[in-house]
Amino acid sequence: MSGKIPKYFINDLLFRTNIVDLINTRIKLKKNGKNYQTNCPFHNDKTPSFTVSYEKQFYYCFGCNKHGNAIDFLINYENLNFVESIEELSLIHGLSIPFEKNIISEKNNYFKKQKLYLLTKKMSELYQKNIMFTSSAYDYLTHRGISRNMMQFFCIGFASFTWDLFYQKLNIKKEFETELLNYQLISINQSNKIYDPFQGRIIFPIHDKYGRTIGFGGRTIQNIFPKYINSTETNIFYKGKQIYGLYQVKKKNSKPKYLLVVEGYIDVIMLTQNKINYVVSSLGTSITKEHVKILFRNTDTVIYCYDGDDAGRNAAWRALKITLPYISDKKTIKFIILPENEDPDSIIKKEGAKNFQLRIQNALTMSKFFFKNILKGINLSSNDDKFYLSVRALPLINCISSDTIRIYLRQILARIIGILDDYQFEKFLYQQKQKNKILQYKIKQTPMRTLIGLLVQNPNLAYLVTSTKQLKNSKIKGIPIFLEILKTCSENISFNTGQLLEFYRNSKIINILKTLSIFDHMIVEDKIQNVFLDLLKSIYKKDLEQRQEHLIAKERTNGLTIHEKKEIWSINKKLKNS
Ligand code: UTP
Ligand code: MN
Repeated sequence: MSGKIPKYFINDLLFRTNIVDLINTRIKLKKNGKNYQTNCPFHNDKTPSFTVSYEKQFYYCFGCNKHGNAIDFLINYENLNFVESIEELSLIHGLSIPFEKNIISEKNNYFKKQKLYLLTKKMSELYQKNIMFTSSAYDYLTHRGISRNMMQFFCIGFASFTWDLFYQKLNIKKEFETELLNYQLISINQSNKIYDPFQGRIIFPIHDKYGRTIGFGGRTIQNIFPKYINSTETNIFYKGKQIYGLYQVKKKNSKPKYLLVVEGYIDVIMLTQNKINYVVSSLGTSITKEHVKILFRNTDTVIYCYDGDDAGRNAAWRALKITLPYISDKKTIKFIILPENEDPDSIIKKEGAKNFQLRIQNALTMSKFFFKNILKGINLSSNDDKFYLSVRALPLINCISSDTIRIYLRQILARIIGILDDYQFEKFLYQQKQKNKILQYKIKQTPMRTLIGLLVQNPNLAYLVTSTKQLKNSKIKGIPIFLEILKTCSENISFNTGQLLEFYRNSKIINILKTLSIFDHMIVEDKIQNVFLDLLKSIYKKDLEQRQEHLIAKERTNGLTIHEKKEIWSINKKLKNS
C-alpha cells in the first residue's frame, strides 16, 4: 500500500514530525536523561518501561517489546491503518498527500473523502440555516428546553419536509445538488423526485476530533417511525469508531477529568446546557472496544449513565463487559443508575443540575456495580447458586489485566462465596501469569548483528565508512544486508532510525531491521563509534581470511592464475599489517 504514497513524502512527514511531541500530546512523557519515558500504553505497565528517543525518532517498550516510529505509533495507538496514519500526520502538518500519478484507487479514495468532508460541511451549514426558517423545528427544540446557545454550539439544524422546499428556501445550486446525489447524501425515488433521507427531522451533525462534519443524526418532529436515523456509513463515517459530543467536550477542555457516557443526542445537549461539560454518547449503538479506547485516550475516568429502563440497564452491563479488559490502576469506570423510566434529559429537568451533580459524585464504583449486578437473583444459601455465580464472575474478572484490581475483585468474590481455597487461587494466578507472559527477545550477539544493529540505531555512523569495495563479493553472512543499509544511510545522511525503518517498511528485511533496532548491544554511548569501526575492521579481516583460505585450497587442487597469486600475496601483506 505504501507504494502509492511517494516515499519522499513519507520521509518528509517523518522529518517534520517530532515523535516526542506526537506521543506527549497523547500520553504524558517524562524526561529521563536523553530519552523520555512513561508507563507503556500497550500493556498493563507498573513501571515506566515505554521509552521514546528524540534522536532516533523511535519508541520502544522494555516490557512488551512494542516499538516503531511515529507512523507505527499512530497505527498502534490510534488504531489506524497505514494510509490513515499518513493522513493523520499530513493533517497535523497541514500538508496534502501527493499521490503518485498512476495510482488511481488510493488517490480517488483520498479525494472522495476530501469531497465528502466538503459536502457534509456545506450540508450541515444549510441545515443549520434552515432551522431559523422553520418555526415548527425551532419551536420543537425550544419546547424541549434546548437553548439557542446549545443549538449553535452543537450546530443543530433541520431538514425540510420536502427537498423542493429546502432547495428553494436555501437557493441550492444545481451542481451542488448533483454532487449530493453522486455521493448519496440525498436520494431520488421511483417517480424521479429528489428527497433527503433526513427530511422532516431535526439534524444533529456528528463531528470528528478535528471538528469536521462526518455524518448526521436526525430526529423526527412528527412521531414518525423510526424516531432517530443516522447517516449510513461512508468513507469518513464509521459508527463504531465515533463518539458524539467529544469534539465539543474537548473544545472546552482538552483533558477532561471524566467523560460521562449517555445514550442520546438530546441527553448530551441537555446536560451540556446544564454546565456538565464532559458528556458524550456512542450514537445510539452499543459501546464498542474502539469507543472504549477513544474514551480512555481522552480521560482516566469514564462514567456510564444509561437510561433507567431494561434497555439502559442491559447497555450498562454490556459496557462493563466491553470495558473490563481496558481498566487499569489508572483507568477506571463508574456507573450512574437512573430511576425507572428516566433518562439524563428528563431527570435533570425534574431535579435540576445540582442534584444531578450529586448523582455524578455518588456514582457507583466498578466493583460495586459489578457485584450488584452479578448477585441479582442469586441465593447465597444455595451451593448451586454459588457455583453458578463463580462460573459467571470468574471469566469476567479474569479479563482484567491489572493484578491489583483482579485480585481485589477475586477476594470480594471469595468472601461472598466463601468456598474458594488458596489452591484454586494460586492456580488461577498461575494461569493468568502464563497468559500474560511476555516473550523477551533473545538474540545471539554476533559481530555482524552488532555491526548492523549499531548502524540501524545510529544511521549517521555510515559516514565513517569510506569504501566497501572489498566487501562486495564477500561470503560473510549478513554482508548484503549491511551493504544495503549502509548505502541507504549514506544516501540519506540525515536519516534517523524511525525514517530508516520507514524506508524498508514493506521490504523483506524489515523484520531483521526491527529486531536489530531494539537489540540491546550494551555499548556505552561514547564508545559506539570506536566499536563500530573495530567491528568493521574485524569483518574486513574475516573476509580476507576467508578469501585467503579459499585461494590456498584452490592452489592445492587446481593451482592459481597469476592474478590470483598476486591477490594472495597482497592478502598476506594486509593480514600481517592488521
Ligand atoms: P432514546 O429512544 O432513548 O431517545 O434513544 P432519546 O435520546 O431519549 O431521545 P428523545 O428524548 O426521545 O428525543 C437514544 C439514542 O438511541 C438512538 C439515538 O442516537 C438516540 O439519541 N436511536 C434511538 C436510534 O438510533 N434510533 C431510534 O429509533 C431510536
Ligand atoms: Mn429522551
